[in-house]
Amino acid sequence: MKDILDQLEERRDQARLGGGQSRIEAQHARGKLTARERIELLLDEDSFEEFDMFVTHRNTDFGMEKQRPYGDGVVTGWGTINGRMVYVFSQDFTVFGGSLSETHAQKICKIMDMAVQNGAPVIGINDSGGARIQEGVASLAGYAEVFQRNIMASGVVPQISVIMGPCAGGAVYSPAMTDFIFMVKDTSYMFVTGPDVVKTVTNEVVTAEELGGASTHTRKSSVADAAFENDVETLAEVRRLVDFLPLNNRDKAPVRPFFDEPGRVEHSLDTLIPSNANTPYDMKELIEKVADEGDFYEIQENFAKNIITGFIRLEGRTVGVVANQPMVLAGCLDIDSSRKAARFVRFCDAFEIPILTFVDVPGFLPGTGQEHGGVIKHGAKLLFAYGEATVPKVTVITRKAYGGAYDVMASKHLRGDFNYAWPTAEIAVMGAKGATEIIHRADLADPEKIAKHTADYEERFANPFVAAERGFIDEVIQPHSTRKRVSRAFASLRNKKLSNPWKKHDNIPL
Ligand code: HXC
Repeated sequence: MKDILDQLEERRDQARLGGGQSRIEAQHARGKLTARERIELLLDEDSFEEFDMFVTHRNTDFGMEKQRPYGDGVVTGWGTINGRMVYVFSQDFTVFGGSLSETHAQKICKIMDMAVQNGAPVIGINDSGGARIQEGVASLAGYAEVFQRNIMASGVVPQISVIMGPCAGGAVYSPAMTDFIFMVKDTSYMFVTGPDVVKTVTNEVVTAEELGGASTHTRKSSVADAAFENDVETLAEVRRLVDFLPLNNRDKAPVRPFFDEPGRVEHSLDTLIPSNANTPYDMKELIEKVADEGDFYEIQENFAKNIITGFIRLEGRTVGVVANQPMVLAGCLDIDSSRKAARFVRFCDAFEIPILTFVDVPGFLPGTGQEHGGVIKHGAKLLFAYGEATVPKVTVITRKAYGGAYDVMASKHLRGDFNYAWPTAEIAVMGAKGATEIIHRADLADPEKIAKHTADYEERFANPFVAAERGFIDEVIQPHSTRKRVSRAFASLRNKKLSNPWKKHDNIPL
């Protein structure tokens, strides 16, 4: 009997070695952790339960029958993050470069199916040379099986992809369909075709880092949501993100203990808005002053900085924040910011996370670049996302809310539940100068008259009271009481029930 038990341990030890000591050392020499070390850092201590440790591939082409390492290049299972269950797969680059075979894919599919059935997030750690070349179409089929599950799991359980090595070719499309992508600086990259193919087809010479490294995907393409210095930091940030999220779409986000008075008054907010309407201020200051303990988890921090998205807690409960940032492009909406915020709003709505919107928006960015790039369709994404969202929606207009952008930013007309404005709010079709030049064109040659018309327009519209008279603004609030007002608003909405008419699915302008 003892022999049999020992044999099991021997087999386990062999499986834990993956592709062998020398390949593990090569992995470490590149500044990368192994698949198992990553899982250990991601999950609570001793919480990992592995599946399919002894799975091997079934391929007999190209002499593959002589190499059948246990696990087949991916470690799968479940465990906990701060006591809450998650499923995880972690590709093992030491085994055939983490390449995806038929059986490797089956292991991933198994835990994805379990995650959906049991209502827990899936976290995928990607470090792979792509399709297992020796397996041909069997490998491509395996990818498609994973893709199909990504699609079915979307909006049911949160899916997080962590890119910790190569992720190339069609392999990128699994992470692309998940909710969040995190990358590691300098050691990870994602592209559909690598630098060599790019050179052959387009004659461009580009490094892997430039083409699809962390900086490219967090700043230019917006494929990734965040990038961190190394494996350790990245996995710690995944744990932090998971703490904000519900386990599935029928669950509520966790309620954490909080040590911050919900009624906390912030007098500094009374002077946040500069006296000159064209002077910028940092909207993040408002977000941090409203959040429990000033804790703000920003998503896509380095892309489309004219809009801010991320998570805070109010009274210990997760709230998604969308806010115009006057410091960048005056906070106007454009293609990139609309896409970024729309995706965030839809994530929040899918997972029942209430949405807080801070508005200071002078309108949509004008220009041929925007129009030819399809700002009409992209702007409509954000409009659509807010309008279809049934979660509690609380909006605070701090300064400008001009034109169509006023409507888009979670206005009362898009079923905003609480629409507040600071006394500094200006809600109008456009700014006073532009409006005057259009409606008093005949007086353009007379600066005195124009100045008088502009002042009249400001007097009439550069305030929140016209909207408040109509009930489009529920209340004009003191800036210093924003945290209290917003916290109470969300507290009152905890039992909100609102559903959209039955449909197979909507047709959001993609
Ligand atoms: C089988 C692979 C492999 C693959 C790497 N290996 N990629 N084995 N299938 N796709 C093996 C190598 O043979 C090697 O084995 C080990 O993994 C490590 O690879 P190295 O090349 O030594 O490592 P490195 O120099 O770091 O280069 C990593 C790499 C490179 C850039 C990923 O290996 C590479 O270019 N691989 C091929 C990538 C590729 O073209 N994949 C197919 C893409 S198409 P030994 O035994 O020497 O350790 C695709 C389609 C998906 O994925 C479609 C989905 C719809």
